Amino acid sequence: MMSRDLRSDQPDVIVRSDATAAAKFVADRFAETIRSLPQCVLGLATGGTPIETYRELIRMHQEEGLDFSAVTTFNLDEYVGLGPDHPQSYRHFMRQHLLDHINIDPSRTHLPDGLATDLQGHAAEYEQQIVEAGGIDLQLLGIGHNGHIAFNEPGAAGDSRTRVVQLAEQTIEKNARFFASADEVPRTALTMGIGTILEAKRIVMLATGAGKAEAVRRALEDPADADHPASFLQTHANVTYVLDQGAASRLRL
Ligand code: PGA
Repeated sequence: MMSRDLRSDQPDVIVRSDATAAAKFVADRFAETIRSLPQCVLGLATGGTPIETYRELIRMHQEEGLDFSAVTTFNLDEYVGLGPDHPQSYRHFMRQHLLDHINIDPSRTHLPDGLATDLQGHAAEYEQQIVEAGGIDLQLLGIGHNGHIAFNEPGAAGDSRTRVVQLAEQTIEKNARFFASADEVPRTALTMGIGTILEAKRIVMLATGAGKAEAVRRALEDPADADHPASFLQTHANVTYVLDQGAASRLRL
């Protein structure tokens, strides 16, 4: 991936008035992809940001018949040590917020297995499964306050692959809101690498709220650098940044 030319054109930035409108835009992009390519491979993300997008996709399934029966999904990451039934596992999150409410075949939904005995071997298998599925057609991403994408924390290489990583202290503190205390947040995770993410055919980054404004600005306006992993998206030819006004508030655009 490092061999890709840095894009010279302007990034594709969509700014919507609020988080709901931004989520609607992203859900529409996903729905268009599913309708035009029923067997598409979607890359999915967890966190607070995508919840409204998933809610809208569920609504489209229930009210408009959006059909997920041939769709395949791969999630970005999972905590090491949390099984699928743990309420804070990302498998549980995905079932709760999307997968249990649409007509997707559970065998086509993939997340890294946080309980795998051979984590590194499992990470390599996960990469292989993505390749065998034909690659990811559309990848949804959030962005961390520290610029992480998936659990690629500052310092992650632009050509990194799916692997075990240590969570940054700031990430542990941010995610502690979902656990009884920060002590309970796992310290390690399995994550797709930046190189893995950059192989998706199209990427949509969704960021909402003024708290993300500086992370978004650095991703778009500073040179691509491992200190801010989201900045590596500048090296991909087909990224759409979908922002609400708060998240866009520091951009020069
Ligand atoms: P958030 O997380 O949606 O909970 O803010 C985003 C991320 O860390 O990628």
